[in-house]
Amino acid sequence: MGKIILVLAKDERGGIGNKDGLPWGNPSPADISRFRKITLGKTLLMGRKTYEIIWGKFGPLKDRKENIVLTRNLEWKGDGMTVCHSKAEILELAKSRDIYVIGGGEIYETFQPNASMIYLTEVRGQFESDTSFQWHDKDAWKISAPPIFLPKGPITEHPLLFNTFERRTPLP
Ligand SMILES: NC(=O)c1ccc[n+]([C@@H]2O[C@H](COP(=O)([O-])OP(=O)(O)OC[C@H]3O[C@@H](n4cnc5c(N)ncnc54)[C@H](OP(=O)(O)O)[C@@H]3O)[C@@H](O)[C@H]2O)c1
Repeated sequence: MGKIILVLAKDERGGIGNKDGLPWGNPSPADISRFRKITLGKTLLMGRKTYEIIWGKFGPLKDRKENIVLTRNLEWKGDGMTVCHSKAEILELAKSRDIYVIGGGEIYETFQPNASMIYLTEVRGQFESDTSFQWHDKDAWKISAPPIFLPKGPITEHPLLFNTFERRTPLP
């Protein structure tokens, strides 16, 4: 049985997106590097909007096992992308592989109840945002690796806290 793992960055109020990008502007090199380490060789899942906003101009993320886009549009296609059309289809795939959910808001919301782990980058600050991430039940989660704090500096414009969470009680 595979796991569902969320990988996301949010600000102090939960903001994760604004218009066609991230609330705090470009991701920092430090966060890009962590994201890459976490997701290399993995199966990634993203919503159609995130694909078009963030990744569409680059195509599928390289050196990953598979890039899946979720859309309700049965006609939608993207070069090098696997296309799925329902949560049920993803849960079926997750029986045989880990799935790394990389956004955006609707997809995190949909899969949070099924997630076993969350790689969270907390961006220090409050930024204008139109998309956010909220914990459904924060008490159900515990920090499972030592947090890493990066102060503002050459590899990040805003201070960052890298955290890894896992469920206190594994999902059935
Ligand atoms: N901070 C971060 O870590 C991070 C990471 C990624 C993205 N983001 C931000 O998140 C924002 C985008 O998030 P969003 O919530 O607007 O969109 P999204 O979650 O990226 O994509 C939503 C789309 O996914 C498809 N979808 C959702 N649930 C589905 C289901 N159950 N079955 C089939 N298809 C489904 C639908 O596509 P169709 O409309 O085609 O049917 C829906 O419109 C952007 O601002 C982006 O920058 C932030």
